[in-house]
Amino acid sequence: MAGYTNAPTRTMALRFGASVVYTEMAGVEGLVHEHSDLTWQLLETLPEERGRAIAHLYGRDPGHFARAAERIAATGRFTGIDINAGCPVPKVTACGAGSALMREPALVREIVAAASAASGLPVSVKTRLGFHPGNVTAFDILHAAEDGGAAALSIHGRYKSQGHAGPVDLALVARVRAAASIPVFGNGGVNDAATASRYAAETGVAALLVGQASIGHPWVFREIREGRSFGPGDSHSSYLALDEIRRAWIAHLDAELAFAELIASKYPSSAPKPPPEEIAAIRFRVHLFRYGAGLRGTSYMRGRMSSLHTRADCVRALDGCLECERRFRARRGPPQPGGLAS
Ligand SMILES: Cc1cc2nc3c(=O)[nH]c(=O)nc-3n(C[C@H](O)[C@H](O)[C@H](O)COP(=O)(O)O)c2cc1C
Repeated sequence: MAGYTNAPTRTMALRFGASVVYTEMAGVEGLVHEHSDLTWQLLETLPEERGRAIAHLYGRDPGHFARAAERIAATGRFTGIDINAGCPVPKVTACGAGSALMREPALVREIVAAASAASGLPVSVKTRLGFHPGNVTAFDILHAAEDGGAAALSIHGRYKSQGHAGPVDLALVARVRAAASIPVFGNGGVNDAATASRYAAETGVAALLVGQASIGHPWVFREIREGRSFGPGDSHSSYLALDEIRRAWIAHLDAELAFAELIASKYPSSAPKPPPEEIAAIRFRVHLFRYGAGLRGTSYMRGRMSSLHTRADCVRALDGCLECERRFRARRGPPQPGGLAS
């Protein structure tokens, strides 16, 4: 997910039970033409991702896909390449990429074939059901992906018109899966163990992709693997012991730090830049906010967000937030029946 799934976030997902992780979306133009450092930085990984990371790309020119795919394979960092044919963001669709590809199955076939041949890596396509109900493109994209030699299709069970929210049409995902000769992965609205098990049971997909529910809550992967659901009315992290929350937050913060140092050493810049520790703290602010969702200290953190410049600043804010939650829990008493014990 653009803006979120950088290497530290992906590493946390893996630690909590994800099988594979996808990079943020990188434009093939930036990878081949401009040699844009910023685009290549999106494809940097941390050591724990080795063998479990897939490069997620957007674009529309098969030649550019081929050259980018070859270079991606040469990094040795990725087990596969995923092609975006579903992103609704105007910046992406305006250049004929993302969901604009949903009306060009022949081009999708060409892109898949070009990326596969040039990289030798398994190539998948991620798409949506269609543009809107009554305009279903998923079957055309499935067959184009198959013809191009794709290893899998990921289907977000919503229409472009829905953006990233709203009901997911599991019956239609099941029909796409039934029509496929390659594995189909299901996505959309997989938020916990209950929605995951329903998605799998009603569609028969080979794997599930978790998006928004994993941001600020990497525990979701473990919950899905273990089939554990929350009690009614419980918010995501409120069942977790405070020391487990703290350990995860600090692990994520330290991964941000390691990643900022890796970027600084691989991409030295003549322009003045904040030191890696400050870059890590700024990146971590986004996650801190999401990690705090459902905990009583969120407003405590919100007020301090812009003053977090170092690891120590971040740890102080985390501890302040957790102290608010600890006091709330002490007043509330033990978790209610139905919730998960901490
Ligand atoms: C902030 C944000 C960024 C996203 N970026 C991408 C992206 O770069 N590529 C992509 O295929 N999907 C992207 N998505 C869509 C998600 O991958 C996913 O398909 C969608 O959120 C539905 O799954 P979910 O209900 O589990 O979140 C993004 C979604 C959000 C909210």
